Amino acid sequence: MSIKNQAKTILVCGGAGFIGSNFIHYMSEKYPDRRIVNYDKLTYAGNLENHKQLENNPNYFFIQGDITDLEKLDETIKKYRISHIINFAAETHVDRSIHGGAKEFVLSNTLGVQMILDTVKKNQIEKFVNVSTDEVYGSLDLDSDELFTEETPIMPNMPYAAAKAGGDLMCNAYFKTHKVPVIVTHCSNNYGPYQFPEKLIPFFIFKLLGGEKVPIYGDGLNVRDWIYVSDHVRALDLLLQKGKAGEVYNIGSGNERNNLEVAKMILKIMKKNEDMIEYVKDRPGHDRRYAIDATKILSLGWKPEYPREKFEKGLAETVQWYLENKSWVENLKKKKNEMNKFQEDFFNRK
Ligand SMILES: NC(=O)c1ccc[n+]([C@@H]2O[C@H](COP(=O)([O-])OP(=O)(O)OC[C@H]3O[C@@H](n4cnc5c(N)ncnc54)[C@H](O)[C@@H]3O)[C@@H](O)[C@H]2O)c1
Repeated sequence: MSIKNQAKTILVCGGAGFIGSNFIHYMSEKYPDRRIVNYDKLTYAGNLENHKQLENNPNYFFIQGDITDLEKLDETIKKYRISHIINFAAETHVDRSIHGGAKEFVLSNTLGVQMILDTVKKNQIEKFVNVSTDEVYGSLDLDSDELFTEETPIMPNMPYAAAKAGGDLMCNAYFKTHKVPVIVTHCSNNYGPYQFPEKLIPFFIFKLLGGEKVPIYGDGLNVRDWIYVSDHVRALDLLLQKGKAGEVYNIGSGNERNNLEVAKMILKIMKKNEDMIEYVKDRPGHDRRYAIDATKILSLGWKPEYPREKFEKGLAETVQWYLENKSWVENLKKKKNEMNKFQEDFFNRK
C-alpha cells in the first residue's frame, strides 16, 4: 500500500529550521491528508514564520518542545498517535560550535537523539529517520578523488560534527541492542530557501545585498558537495518509505565546488565584481574537502533534480527567493534580543 493511503502521523523534530521547513512544505503538499506534528524548541534558528501558510491547515500542528525533554516527547507521541519520526533538530552552525562553546551541541545533537531513541523504543513507531551530516566522516584530501561511502569510518574534526556523530552512534547502538527501527542519513551541504543567513550561501547573498564584501576563509579552496534542499527532502521522503532499518544512507548530488567558485557564481548572478571578495583568517581545523558517493540512495530510485550542471540555476533561484523575501530576514533581525552574543555579533559584523 502506498504511504499516501495510510493513516500515518509524522513527528518532525526541528521542523521550524531550514531543512525541516522545506520538508514540511513538501510533505504537506504531497500528502495533504497526512498529519504533521512539528516539534521544535525554537532556538534562534527556528522560525514559525516559515509555516504561515499552514496555520489554518487542520493536519498541521506545532508543539514547542525540546528533544532532550523525554516526558514531553513521549506525551506528544501518544497524544498525536505518531507512527513515523524524522529528526532535524540540532545545533547546526560549525562556527558557533568552535567559538561559542560545544555544550549545546552535545545536548541537542547527541543527548537529544538518544532521548528520541528512548521514546521510539517505548512506543509503536514504524520508522525513525535521524538526519545527520557528511561532516561526521571528517575531511578528504583536496587532490584525491576519494568519496565518502556509507562504510567510510566516522572521524569528525569539528565539535558540531562530533556531536552529530554521537547521535549517529546512539542510533546504531539502539538498533543493535533494542531493534529500534532507525535509519541514519549523511547528507552534504544544503542550499535553498529559508536558510538562516549565518550559513555560507545566504550569508554571501546578504553581505552583497548590504553592499558589503563576501569574506572567504583561508585560500577559498575548501570543497563542499552542494545539494539543493528540495532534492534532500525528496530523498528523505523516499527513505521514510523504502529505507531499511539499521542502515545508513549518504545523500549528495555530485556537485563538488570550492568556496571561491561558489562566491564567484553568486557575484555573477548578483551582477557584482570579483573585487567584492575579501580573504579572511581561516577557520581553525577547517575540513578541506567533503564529497559523497550516493550510489546506495540512487539505487532506490532517487535522482537529484539539481545535479552539478544545474547548480547555477539552483543558486539563481535561491538568490531570487532571498530578494523576494527580504522581510523574512528583517523579521529575524527583530528577534536579535533573544539571540545570544554570537548571533548579535553576526548581525553587527562589519
Ligand atoms: N544545513 C545543511 O547543510 C545540513 C547538511 C546535512 C545535514 N544537516 C542536518 O540537518 C538537520 C537540519 O539542519 P538545518 O540546516 O535545517 O538546521 P537549522 O539550524 O536551520 O534548524 C534546526 C532546528 O532545530 C531546532 N532545534 C535545535 N535544538 C533543538 C532541540 N534541542 N529540540 C528541539 N528543536 C531544536 C531549532 O529551533 C531549528 O528550528 C540538522 O540535524 C543538521 O545537522 C544539515
